[in-house]
Amino acid sequence: MSTPHINAQLNDFAETVLMPGDPLRAKHIAETFLEDAREVTSVRNVLGYTGTYNGKPVSIMASGMGIPSMSIYARELIVSYGVKNLIRIGTCGGIGSDIKIRDVIFAQGASTDSNVNRARVQGYDFAAIANFDLLVNGVEAAKRLGIAAKVGNVFTTDTFYQASTDLYQKLDKLGVLAVDMETAGLYGVAAEYGANAMALFTVSDHVITGEATPSEERQNSFNEMVKIALESI
Ligand code: HPA
Repeated sequence: MSTPHINAQLNDFAETVLMPGDPLRAKHIAETFLEDAREVTSVRNVLGYTGTYNGKPVSIMASGMGIPSMSIYARELIVSYGVKNLIRIGTCGGIGSDIKIRDVIFAQGASTDSNVNRARVQGYDFAAIANFDLLVNGVEAAKRLGIAAKVGNVFTTDTFYQASTDLYQKLDKLGVLAVDMETAGLYGVAAEYGANAMALFTVSDHVITGEATPSEERQNSFNEMVKIALESI
């Protein structure tokens, strides 16, 4: 079998799929952290792998960037491949003044400037939230690993370059921790098709102060977050 965007066979994916944005990150994670990892899909070079971690089956598949890309892969994984748990592992831009680059953030909920979740409920607001069990398991795994993490609302934007500092300052006042481009879409798709979803990030840059992580350090903090996600399963 295959879907328009995934050429894996039925049962090629584990129940739990970790989703970085970047296909080469998916490859790196599979090669670095999994045992017996094998590539299961490669359409458009959006790579997916399945292997085991501590003896438990787990898959890693890239989401691409933005709500539309994430929504396509999440839907096909859930509806056609029976995936139950989708965990986004990404980077985000910090918003809050107490958010520092390299921090780990869990997205308890995802606000958005996109219309996709309103379209699911006839134009009304839809509170896009993380699955509680995945969130608790993630936070507890971070504690066990001794990695401080923040949990709260994030903002998923469709516009990497157009969003204004003014908007980010308003979001900061409302307690929104960070900005990404996929989580509200993932949470909406999971709700619609009956799967569990959760997202965690490392802060790669700060959208108000302009601070950014040097690229070699990005990989280190990213690996820490991957460990949290894998240990939470
Ligand atoms: N904006 C949106 N998404 C992001 C950013 C950002 O500054 N950094 C990492 N993901």
